[in-house]
Amino acid sequence: MTTAAEHYRTHLAPVYLWMAGGFDAAVSRGEAEIKAIFPSLPSGIAAVDLGAGFGMHAIPLARRGCSVIAVDTSSILLDELRGHAGALPVRAVEDELLSFQRHLDSKVNLILCMGDTLTHLPEPASVEKLFSLAADSLRPDGKFIATFRDYTPPLVGEGRFIPVKSDADRILTCFLEYDSEYVNVHDVLHQRNGSTWQLRVSAYRKLRLSPEWVSAALQASGFSVRVEPGLGGMVRVVATRV
Ligand SMILES: C[S@@+](CC[C@H](N)C(=O)[O-])C[C@H]1O[C@@H](n2cnc3c(N)ncnc32)[C@H](O)[C@@H]1O
Repeated sequence: MTTAAEHYRTHLAPVYLWMAGGFDAAVSRGEAEIKAIFPSLPSGIAAVDLGAGFGMHAIPLARRGCSVIAVDTSSILLDELRGHAGALPVRAVEDELLSFQRHLDSKVNLILCMGDTLTHLPEPASVEKLFSLAADSLRPDGKFIATFRDYTPPLVGEGRFIPVKSDADRILTCFLEYDSEYVNVHDVLHQRNGSTWQLRVSAYRKLRLSPEWVSAALQASGFSVRVEPGLGGMVRVVATRV
């Protein structure tokens, strides 16, 4: 079992944009999601995108006039983000989620942690720590928004094999193996190599967080919380600093 950072570095990051359907399609989905959450956004918003990846949400926010600090441990994905950001007000920093505060000069209006990034943290206490840092870094009325998968109901049998993406040269399948607090995520990648297929497998651990636990932990950090459906079967929490 590798760490999430190592898994991305050696396995997932090089194929991540392919898996997401390409930059433009993925950023359009991010744009639609941001629009659904914020039909209007005042200009001059300061935002942090935690686990920003290639900028699926950071780029749409910056296009709408926000200044964004995008934090991620994957240099490969951050390079994609920088390459597409051009002159947009996005600062991409390679760092751990729990270290984001050292990149802030002042409190911000918005902190995002999208696309199942929360579950990559090593333990529930790290999630609680992140919520407390977010509460401490937001202006009054500021928002913390996260989307994540609820892995608490376990998939069983063949349901644990999830076809993620395929084309003529590549097949990505995910296999889930559950234990009490975690799910072990095996990313099984077949890549065509001439007339043969090359198989590479890497696994890492994700947290099994329930929406109820996330909501209670956010409230304990001083947020009022709304829980709603997010993109692609994820859960979305919209938490407002009270
Ligand atoms: C599932 S991807 C989501 C990316 C993006 N937010 C989106 O919605 O497309 C998770 C991201 O979190 C990053 N990540 C995972 N663990 C991290 C950590 N401890 N600190 C910083 N980034 C992390 C990964 O490199 C990856 O880019």
